[in-house]
Amino acid sequence: IAHKIGYFVGSLASNSINRTLSKALIKLASDQLEFTEIPIRDLPLYSQDYDADFPAPARALKDAIGASDGILFVSPEYNRSIPGALKNAIDWGSRPWGTNSFARKPTGIIGASPGGIGTAVMQSSMRGVLSFLDAPQLNAPEAYVKFDPEAFGEDGEVRNEGTREFLRHYMDEYCAFVQRVLAANAPGHI
Ligand code: FNR
Repeated sequence: IAHKIGYFVGSLASNSINRTLSKALIKLASDQLEFTEIPIRDLPLYSQDYDADFPAPARALKDAIGASDGILFVSPEYNRSIPGALKNAIDWGSRPWGTNSFARKPTGIIGASPGGIGTAVMQSSMRGVLSFLDAPQLNAPEAYVKFDPEAFGEDGEVRNEGTREFLRHYMDEYCAFVQRVLAANAPGHI
C-alpha cells in the first residue's frame, strides 16, 4: 500500500532551488510513497483571532496534513532560521489549541542553499519546533544540500551520480521511517 506524503516547499520564489530539489526527491523516492504538495502561499498571517473560524486556505492546510501519513519539509534557510512563510504555515497547522495537526506525524526535513551551510541551521530550528509539536522526525541520515545548478535539471533530474545516490538513500530511509512510525501509531501497538 502507498503512503500519502504531504510536502511543504518553504520558498515562494518562482525559481526556487528547493522546489527543484523537491521534484528530484519525488522522482527518487520509492513508489510506496505518493506525494501531494501542501500549499502555503495563500495563508494569511496567523493570529489567534482566527481560531473561532479558520479561513479556507487554513482549513485546507489542516485537512491536507490530516490526510497525510507523513510530512516532508523541503526548505531554504532564511537568516539562519525557518522562512517566515513556512513558519506561518506550521503555526496555522498547530492551532486551534488542542487540534495540533502535526502530532505523531512522521516528518523529514531537508533543504538546499547555494552556500556550504546547506540549510543546517534552519533544520536545527525546525527540529525544536517539531519536537514541541510532538512530530517524530527522521534523525539520520541528515541531508544538507549545497545546490549545484549543474547537477540538477529543472524537472528534477539529478545528473551527478553521487548526489543522486545520496538523495535516493535519504528518501529510502525516510520511507522506512514513515513505515516504522505508522506501525507504532497503529491501534493496539503499545
Ligand atoms: C537567504 N539565503 C540564505 N542562505 C543560507 O544558506 N543561509 C541563510 O541564512 C540565508 N538567508 C537568506 C535570507 C533571505 C531573506 C534570502 C532571500 C536568502 C540565500 C538562500 O539560500 C538562496 O536565496 C536560496 O536560493 C533560497 O532558496 P529558494 O528560494 O531558491 O528555494
